[in-house]
Amino acid sequence: MINAVEVKNLKVSFPTPAGYSAVVRGINLTIKAGERVAIVGESGSGKTMLGLSMLGIQPTSAKVEGEVLINGVDMVSAPDSVARKLRGKDISMVFQEPLTSLNPVRTVSSQLSESVTRHTNLNKKDAAAKVLEVLTAVGIPSPAERLKAYPHQLSGGLRQRVMIALALINNPQLVVADEPTTALDATIQAQILDLLRSGMGDASLMLITHDLAVAADVCNRIVVMYAGNIVEQGPVAEILSTPKHPYTRGLLAAIPRFDPARPALNPIPGSPPQITEIVSGCRFASRCNYADHVCQAAEPAFENNVACFHPVIGATR
Ligand SMILES: Nc1ncnc2c1ncn2[C@@H]1O[C@H](COP(=O)(O)OP(=O)(O)O)[C@@H](O)[C@H]1O
Ligand code: SF4
Ligand SMILES: [Mg+2]
Repeated sequence: MINAVEVKNLKVSFPTPAGYSAVVRGINLTIKAGERVAIVGESGSGKTMLGLSMLGIQPTSAKVEGEVLINGVDMVSAPDSVARKLRGKDISMVFQEPLTSLNPVRTVSSQLSESVTRHTNLNKKDAAAKVLEVLTAVGIPSPAERLKAYPHQLSGGLRQRVMIALALINNPQLVVADEPTTALDATIQAQILDLLRSGMGDASLMLITHDLAVAADVCNRIVVMYAGNIVEQGPVAEILSTPKHPYTRGLLAAIPRFDPARPALNPIPGSPPQITEIVSGCRFASRCNYADHVCQAAEPAFENNVACFHPVIGATR
């Protein structure tokens, strides 16, 4: 099976008064063709910076190291002219708020057809047919009538479908979706999650979310990030039934629907280390019930799908 993307030792750092500080701290991640992988973690864990740097669209102040291999091209070291050819074709991104990424003064059809003609040799007529096809595929009702609409004339749910259509129109091998349903109300959220689960064609999906329930609903595999590191990963069923990392256990306990015995939200106490904070040992130790002197002395390596000196064995309840 071919890989949609191979991320190798990816680091993203920002300048601070004390020098560069990494917010993505050496991520290794392979997403196979057809896989749907969720990146889950609290706000500030580095999920967005991971996604942006995979497309090469991180803030200009960020320093990116490591490799992001797509179709044999390393997005990190490739010249921008090469990376730009892959963006919107082989890899594309869906954001939380489509109004900030769609062009407000251009119609739906002109934005979609421009992306087709930029990346393919299709003539105008075939590009127009492709636009209608993809709008239909993402579940836009009466798509022909929406072609001349401007983004602000559409509802939030339809705008997000247009954004997904734009991401899918050149049949990419990977779509990165960053909190794509966070701004939507519950009914529309469920519809967009359906689309992400079963309407992505051949594209693999990397779904970034702070919501473990959303991740479990849409994806095959869950990757848990904490303070810039992957701390656990595995198939959805395993992560839900037998999470090994104390942080993953904490995320699960915070979702009422996975633990009916605890109807109230039960958030993990404390907060992740700040970007400028120097932590020796495990970065979760200050919040971990299992922490001991071993955890304070060194940072646990990622082995057997978990980065913890004392992985928890057994089911959650
Ligand atoms: N432009 C920036 N300059 C400096 N630090 C940043 C910048 N953007 C994000 N960060 C920091 O990077 C860390 C990871 O942020 P982010 O990737 O947005 O997390 P997440 O998406 O998981 O909420 C945070 O500590 C955030 O403050
Ligand atoms: S290494 Fe130690 S402090 Fe870190 S998560 Fe595991 S048990 Fe907790
Ligand atoms: Mg984010």
